Amino acid sequence: MARRSRCGSIGRHDGHRAIHADRLVLRKAHPTDRDALVELSTDPKVRAHLGGPHPREAVERRLDETGTAHATSEPGSYVIADKTTDEAIGLIDLDRRPAHRPGHVVTGGGELELSSVLRRPFWGAGLAAEATAAVLRAAAAELPDQPVLIVTQTARALAARLGFDEVDTFPEFDAQQTLAVAALHAFRSRPAPDRRVPGRVIARGLDRGVSRVAVGLGGGGWGRGGSG
Ligand SMILES: CC(C)(COP(=O)(O)OP(=O)(O)OC[C@H]1O[C@@H](n2cnc3c(N)ncnc32)[C@H](O)[C@@H]1OP(=O)(O)O)[C@@H](O)C(=O)NCCC(=O)NCCS
Repeated sequence: MARRSRCGSIGRHDGHRAIHADRLVLRKAHPTDRDALVELSTDPKVRAHLGGPHPREAVERRLDETGTAHATSEPGSYVIADKTTDEAIGLIDLDRRPAHRPGHVVTGGGELELSSVLRRPFWGAGLAAEATAAVLRAAAAELPDQPVLIVTQTARALAARLGFDEVDTFPEFDAQQTLAVAALHAFRSRPAPDRRVPGRVIARGLDRGVSRVAVGLGGGGWGRGGSG
């Protein structure tokens, strides 16, 4: 099958809709993901700019209490898994950035915000970019056009490769964060993660009012949690 038609295509996984990309499937978490979830929360390098690593005991206790499924219980949250082996290699989350946090492109905030983490052995292979493009392509098929944000210290290259434009910097969590923005519908027909499109001008002018829209992936809406 051609790359274009697979990137961001949607299929069923464990009763939820999974998103398929070339090398990846984005799906909800299940119990065999436990070790990967612990690794993502405890690895000092993965967590270096995300508030630092969590203590292993605390992470394991939380997983015991909540179950692995809790890690991706929000509608826009997925495990990034290897398409061939189903091994969990990361997490991706499309949520809404709350108004009380800095870094917005529309009055009142609540824009879609994309974040991702990969286990260290999987860095440097274009997998985060592939997962991001697939999630945004799936979201773009269901939601009206609107800005999507990436707020990061470390993922600037990833954002640029995907056609996000840097529009601001601001301090948060004792660090300087970069705010990058793209138009959601730029991902509707984008076959590869490295094609650039002009995001800044489009995104600034978009109408939002989208948080009211309930869409069907996984039986819920995109980014309704608002936890940022
Ligand atoms: C942010 C993070 C997910 C990015 O992962 P990544 O693998 O570097 O990102 P990408 O998927 O864009 O991969 C790009 C790299 O893969 C390389 N690559 C190899 N094959 C590729 C392919 N087929 N397509 C695209 N890139 C490819 C690129 O050259 C690039 O390498 P470089 O970084 O040495 O220049 C990862 O570093 C991470 O988990 N960091 C910690 C968590 C964090 O800070 N997250 C940010 C919150 S938004």
